[in-house]
Amino acid sequence: MNADAMNIFKFLRKKHTSALAVPPLEKRPRHIAFIMDGNGRWAQKRSLPRSAGHAAGTEALREIIKACDEFKIEVMSIYAFSTENWNRPQEEVSALMKLITKYFVSEIDELHEKGVKIKILGELEKFPEEQRLALEKAMEKTKDNKGLKLNIALNYGGRAEIVRAAKAISGKCVSGEMDVDKIDYDALSNEMYTSGDPDVDLLIRTSGDKRLSNFLLWQTWYAEIIFNPVFWPDYNRAELIKDLNEYAARDRRFGRVKTK
Ligand code: FPP
Repeated sequence: MNADAMNIFKFLRKKHTSALAVPPLEKRPRHIAFIMDGNGRWAQKRSLPRSAGHAAGTEALREIIKACDEFKIEVMSIYAFSTENWNRPQEEVSALMKLITKYFVSEIDELHEKGVKIKILGELEKFPEEQRLALEKAMEKTKDNKGLKLNIALNYGGRAEIVRAAKAISGKCVSGEMDVDKIDYDALSNEMYTSGDPDVDLLIRTSGDKRLSNFLLWQTWYAEIIFNPVFWPDYNRAELIKDLNEYAARDRRFGRVKTK
């Protein structure tokens, strides 16, 4: 993707204008998960190849990381590539791979400067060596950072993550390191890729589709969900502020009844 093409995609993205204020810190979610859906449809609507949608989606991602950092969100998790995405046409898979590597190579210094801590959720073994090394380097470089935690789900599946945790715990029980009676929610949480992170407070899926698509199934157990109809490349700071206001207005009861 050359620089001219990239500038055109930037230009085509919806500009942000918002009259709304960001809710106070105590009303903001600690952990937001994003299903960045609709890149392909955004591109098709403009008679562009699907890869152009992913490139424009990268611009949206850059803006949203900046906003989450500014709004003091603790954890931002994004679904970049699912275990099911390998079944897409080969050219799309390889365009996505290239885009992801390019993003990390070109953005890592700026993210590091902001104190962003990058963690990959998923199995990197299946990735081509160039991609794997770029991702491992990004994690290593930012591992002691104390700012926004950016979790990137790549070759990730929620069910596979739960099975992986169950296997780890069974192994500990078989070796005698853990007693079966000690298996509880925290024990399972500690075996997830997101170990140490708060559970997801807010899940945002763009594009209007209304499903979880195997994303963070364990961590979203009491998450508020917003299905925002805009395609991901048009998702911007103003849309995020709108969604944060909707979240702040929700009554989170966690299965209890209202006390006041
Ligand atoms: C879903 O849209 C989006 C993806 C499968 C990929 C998301 C990737 C990016 C935003 C690129 C940048 C990522 C990183 C980590 C730099 P879709 O293709 O399923 O769209 P459709 O539903 O309209 O077909």
